[in-house]
Amino acid sequence: MKKYLVIGNPIKHSLSPKLHNYWFKKYNLSNHNYDKRKVTEDDLKKVILEIKNDKLAGLNITVPFKRSIIPFCDILDKTAEDLRSVNTISKKNGKIIGWNTDSLGFLDCLKASNIMDEKKSVFILGAGGVTSAVLDALWGFGSKQIYLSNRTKDKAIELKNMFKDKFDKIEILNWEEKPKKKCGIVINTTSMGLAKTDLINIDFNEYENKKSNQEKSIFIDLIYSQKTNFLKAAEKRGNLAIDGKIMFLGQAKYSFNIWTNILPKIDTNTLELFKND
Ligand code: ATR
Repeated sequence: MKKYLVIGNPIKHSLSPKLHNYWFKKYNLSNHNYDKRKVTEDDLKKVILEIKNDKLAGLNITVPFKRSIIPFCDILDKTAEDLRSVNTISKKNGKIIGWNTDSLGFLDCLKASNIMDEKKSVFILGAGGVTSAVLDALWGFGSKQIYLSNRTKDKAIELKNMFKDKFDKIEILNWEEKPKKKCGIVINTTSMGLAKTDLINIDFNEYENKKSNQEKSIFIDLIYSQKTNFLKAAEKRGNLAIDGKIMFLGQAKYSFNIWTNILPKIDTNTLELFKND
């Protein structure tokens, strides 16, 4: 049996097992199985050892370990190395390989969302392990001006240094401070929203969009497991609200490809799987 895991904390919300087990079945990989496990930082070494000992075949990594898993990898693929973020682990010739498929997954989301002129200026909340992938995808998509607000400012500054040559402008803001200028896209990359009571205290009143001919703004939340307060408020204002499902499916599709050499199709049956989630 080839066993795969998604590890994180919290992990209860993860739909990765449902999706990957669906694909294992669909592509007749009956000896493959995917589960989730809540871990702490101290468990990372042990989990990697399970891969080395062939007890596990591969991993997905989620909040908050995308950065802290890096020292346990023998090799990083170029994207994971550039973005300093790993969401997928495989093993080849006894070596632990760390990959990043979040960037491609988020690019899938941007491409699928009919975003046009809005892409120029982007306000990003968060500077965690996934935010470098979001910035990478936005750069590939043609965004120009970035505004970054994170609770821990140093992490935002680190991202600015990583990406300063790729954008016309990256401005760092205090946590829950918004840019003076209205942005075309606002993205929540924080884990604020995983708990139903989580609230991001920013007043987006000037983004109110009640008339259909008005310039629309797009609000994206990477969280896919529920409609967050951030997106509920965006819908109420009349903004286009996009959750993290397409990105989730995209990153999963590319992880699946790394493990099995199969690139699954995201068809209506796949989307149907998550209708009630
Ligand atoms: P990962 O590396 O897996 O993405 P992470 O680095 O912990 O996980 O990132 C989570 C993001 O959510 C970070 O931007 C984090 O802010 P900090 O960099 O200050 O930790 C943000 N976040 C988590 N809990 C938060 C909270 N209660 N308030 C504000 N931001 C929060």
